[in-house]
Amino acid sequence: MKILNLTLEDGADKLYLKIANAIREAIKNGNASTGESLPSARTLATQLAVNRHTIMSAYHELEAQGWVESKERQGYSVAQTLPIYHSQKDNDKLNEANSKHQWRLVKTSNNSLQRQASDYLFNFAGGNPDIALFPFNEFRSYVNEAMSRPLINELNYGNNNGFPAFITEVSTYLRRVRAIADKDIIVVNGSQEALYIISQILLKTGDKVAVESLGYRPAWNALENAGAELIGVKQTKDGIDVEHLEQLFKQHKLRLLYLTPLHQYPTTTTLPAAQRIKIYHLARQYNVPIIEDDYDHEFHYDSQPLAPMAANDPAGLVIYLSSFSKIMFPGIRLGIIAVDKTLVPDIISYRTMINHKANVVLQDAVARWMKDGAFERHLRKATRIYQKRRQCMVETLNSFIAEGIKLDFTVPPGGMTLWVNVGGNAKEIATAARDNNIFLLAENAFHLAQESDENKFIRLGFAGQSEDKIKQGLLLLKPLLNRKG
Ligand SMILES: Cc1ncc(COP(=O)(O)O)c(C=O)c1O
Repeated sequence: MKILNLTLEDGADKLYLKIANAIREAIKNGNASTGESLPSARTLATQLAVNRHTIMSAYHELEAQGWVESKERQGYSVAQTLPIYHSQKDNDKLNEANSKHQWRLVKTSNNSLQRQASDYLFNFAGGNPDIALFPFNEFRSYVNEAMSRPLINELNYGNNNGFPAFITEVSTYLRRVRAIADKDIIVVNGSQEALYIISQILLKTGDKVAVESLGYRPAWNALENAGAELIGVKQTKDGIDVEHLEQLFKQHKLRLLYLTPLHQYPTTTTLPAAQRIKIYHLARQYNVPIIEDDYDHEFHYDSQPLAPMAANDPAGLVIYLSSFSKIMFPGIRLGIIAVDKTLVPDIISYRTMINHKANVVLQDAVARWMKDGAFERHLRKATRIYQKRRQCMVETLNSFIAEGIKLDFTVPPGGMTLWVNVGGNAKEIATAARDNNIFLLAENAFHLAQESDENKFIRLGFAGQSEDKIKQGLLLLKPLLNRKG
């Protein structure tokens, strides 16, 4: 330890005793913890502007009392076992700690902090990428490059849209791979930040927002936090029910539409091109912007994925979100808003209240990674592996069906999960699975209206674990799937 903040009390004690008392208080308050090394006598002498011998005397005193230990050539450290010491002052402090300030919370969120899915031995959580596939060594060299040749100007306050070289790479990629050409790019710390900002700038209390009736709760939380009233659009086996959406447009003054068209969250169905066109025309007719959340675009296996709605948006009403959480890993906190340039200044100026600079070094590294083609190489590899894992899960579940277990599912053309009809008891299966160290979610976790829960579907993510793990986990799950209500 180089510095320890000490408060010397006034009084008639000798200086070395005052210093010893101050160090002891620091230890008792937990500012220096057991075993931690203490500043050298020389450092403390300079810090307190006293003679080094005075500090040595203070340390000797504390050593004699059992608070401090000294080791040759290593200096002083806090004793491993501290003397039990209770004065009236200590008791007062303890009482003080027990009567902490009560916060007056005026806004809370309903996010529950539960045990993490990754704590389970078998993790079938829906959208987890397999982080072990990420080429950390390769990526480190781009981080090194970004650190050795930084664009000094960009490191300072100023531009808050994102690192220009990264925006260039992302624009090229979106144009080439997703056919999105006429949008401006804003870089965010993950799509969730985008959802929050967009909700804040486009919605006020009581505004109605149409969302998929089975959907992505974190997006709903952001919308509701801005005061929105959510209205669920019914779903068919092809995604949202366009006729129902049309009725909602007629009945309500909708202000926004939030959709996951490519791999509907959580069912993984792909909204067909014809439905997209109808939805777009309705949105245009009623003047309602669409948030298109395209969170796992690359992981499409049987064909080229449909171009996003944002690729054909002459009115500029689609706000397109993309995330690096699946492509890289969630901890990278990198996402993109592709939006008509008319909305850019408002998004940036709102975002500047939350965060007035994006993580430039990280974006610089990712830009270099993308420019070199290594990014797309990683994507091709991950897509191939996920496709095999989808196959493995499908074959394993089909073998259960062949043995007489009642399951029904459609193999999705892409995405990272299967949406499996287990016929009933879905919630009970999910709960029993956790007792067997298996994480999965049942449909109740995704309904906007709990009364719509039929308790039939479970969601099984296939991307995040090896084929062996998928098979082992499913075998362990098998007796639970076979249970009669
Ligand atoms: C529907 C949906 N949108 C977005 C995301 C990604 O969010 P973020 O970029 O904030 O990690 C996810 C990740 O699970 C998702 O499922």
